[in-house]
Amino acid sequence: MESLAGYVYKAASEGRVPTLAALLLHQEPETQYLLGYVTHLSGQKSTPLIIAARNGHDKVVRLLLDHYRVDTEQTGTVRFDGYVIDGATALWCAAGAGHFEVVRLLVSHRANVNHTTITNSTPLRAACFDGRLDIVRYLVEHAADISITNKYNNTCLMIAAYKGHTDVVKFLLEQGANANAKAHCGATALHFAAEAGHLDIVKELVRCQAAMVMNGHGMTPLKVAAESCKADVVELLLQHEDCDNGSQVEALELLGASFANDRENYDIQKTYHYLHLAMTARYRDPANVIVKKNLLPIEAYGGRRECRTLGDLEAIHADRDALHMEGLMIRERILGSDNIDVAHPIIYRGAVYADNMEFEQCIKLWLHALHLRQRGNRNTHKDLLRFAQVFSQMVHLKERVTAYSVEQVLSCSVLEIKRSMTRVETATESELQQARENYEANVFTFLYLTCISTKTTCSDEERASINKHIYDLIQLDPRSREGSSLLHLAISSNTPVDDFHTNDVCSFPNAQVTKLLLDCGSPVNAIDNEGNTPLHVIVQYNRPISDFLTLHAIIISLVEAGAHTDMTNKQKKT
Ligand SMILES: *[C@@H]1O[C@H](CO)[C@@H](O)[C@H](O)[C@H]1NC(C)=O
Ligand SMILES: *[C@@H]1O[C@H](CO)[C@@H](O)[C@H](O)[C@H]1NC(C)=O
Ligand SMILES: *[C@@H]1O[C@H](CO)[C@@H](O)[C@H](O)[C@H]1NC(C)=O
Repeated sequence: MESLAGYVYKAASEGRVPTLAALLLHQEPETQYLLGYVTHLSGQKSTPLIIAARNGHDKVVRLLLDHYRVDTEQTGTVRFDGYVIDGATALWCAAGAGHFEVVRLLVSHRANVNHTTITNSTPLRAACFDGRLDIVRYLVEHAADISITNKYNNTCLMIAAYKGHTDVVKFLLEQGANANAKAHCGATALHFAAEAGHLDIVKELVRCQAAMVMNGHGMTPLKVAAESCKADVVELLLQHEDCDNGSQVEALELLGASFANDRENYDIQKTYHYLHLAMTARYRDPANVIVKKNLLPIEAYGGRRECRTLGDLEAIHADRDALHMEGLMIRERILGSDNIDVAHPIIYRGAVYADNMEFEQCIKLWLHALHLRQRGNRNTHKDLLRFAQVFSQMVHLKERVTAYSVEQVLSCSVLEIKRSMTRVETATESELQQARENYEANVFTFLYLTCISTKTTCSDEERASINKHIYDLIQLDPRSREGSSLLHLAISSNTPVDDFHTNDVCSFPNAQVTKLLLDCGSPVNAIDNEGNTPLHVIVQYNRPISDFLTLHAIIISLVEAGAHTDMTNKQKKT
């Protein structure tokens, strides 16, 4: 029976009506079983009706509905463009995949037009995502509820606005969709259209009284458009009735600033153009000049201070570097230093400096971004690795790496490891793997940085602060999945080394790092999950001849630090 069900499913899936009819013929008492049977295949779990609807086989759907009265409300799990949809009906699938005829058949057989998936997505929402006005219209004409939101309170109007389906947006608005509904994140349809830069949709929404409100990050649609370099949308929204002079100036500045440090939209002429417009607007009414307040010079941005007058701005017209920094300062001021979007352009600009071998400016910017991201409690493991890479590149090129910068990054690295330990402890089952990998990656990065610190010239005082961070981490006693301590890892040839510049400078086993860890109090007789001490690890080093000096130096350091030569591991070996 089960294999017969498999053939039935396959015939339905491939739209082979005669085969399907033949398979079902004379199966009278079993047809309900065969047509309700859920086949698991390549990540999908569905019945013959659902898969036929998904694949647009209207003749199969007609046969199943007319002749076999299959339940239209069967649900399954289907895949769409990499998304996995749980609890989808045949109607949802047909609507999402754009099969009008199948939609029509299902609805005329009384399929529930409001039947939602597990995440509360309706067939109408699926059609709005896909931008099929004919299907959207048909569903609405058959009493589909346009106000049902998904589990994030995201409406059909929002998804159509974001995906840029102007005709669908117009239609939904005509049907009375609420232009001012808010999703969980606080965003309205206007935010989504503005962010994606769909000018016609923005116009349509504004015509239908869409208001200029803030989302959960304190951003209006105008600011969202400015932040993402959507100049035409910004120019349109500047005319919005909710937009006062102050917001206009801010939007123009944010737009100009964003063009200065965005990989895809970089345009320094536009930066100057919009900053100039903004500055002009600040002074438009001599009796009510909108002044910039409390501007302090910012060290990370070359100790610069934002321009305050047209004269200031005109003086840097031809100075790209100054305009880049102006952009970064403006973004940080307007977006706020805890905004998630602030750090990225700073890192981008730093990378451009690094490509031009201007390492000092790069490090300043990256340190600033690292501090911002860490203050915002964000995962910084990539930021930390990026430092290990650029420091390694510098060491390799014999550029000076300052003890101060290494010390700063080590300090952030200790905090990140502390946080990643907590993330492992509190992770759900599905997060655990990622959390562990992250944690380990952070520990490896710390070792790279420690290694770099042994190649940095330091004063006694600087060395002491660096050692303090190493000491702090040793106190936390981070361990790899094999239970290896920092000392085990420093001594093991299995410790992975990142291959973007880092491996030009760092390698393990590493005698300097071993010595440094021991000096900072690393327990010399720590054991891993197999009961091995660091001494067990080094005596098994596979290059005892060609790298004899490392082997020798490490053994001496361990023994001098009090390593017990008689400790046995789990296999009872000393
Ligand atoms: C769908 O929802 C709309 C609006 O609430 C309602 O009028 C209609 O009857 C519902 N249709 C079904 C099949 O439940
Ligand atoms: C989602 O929408 C429902 C109904 O409109 C509302 O009661 C609820 O507060 C909203 N939830 C959030 C988090 O916005
Ligand atoms: C806003 O701009 C208008 C037109 O330029 C001007 O008349 C008005 O004084 C400005 N208001 C403020 C508060 O600056």
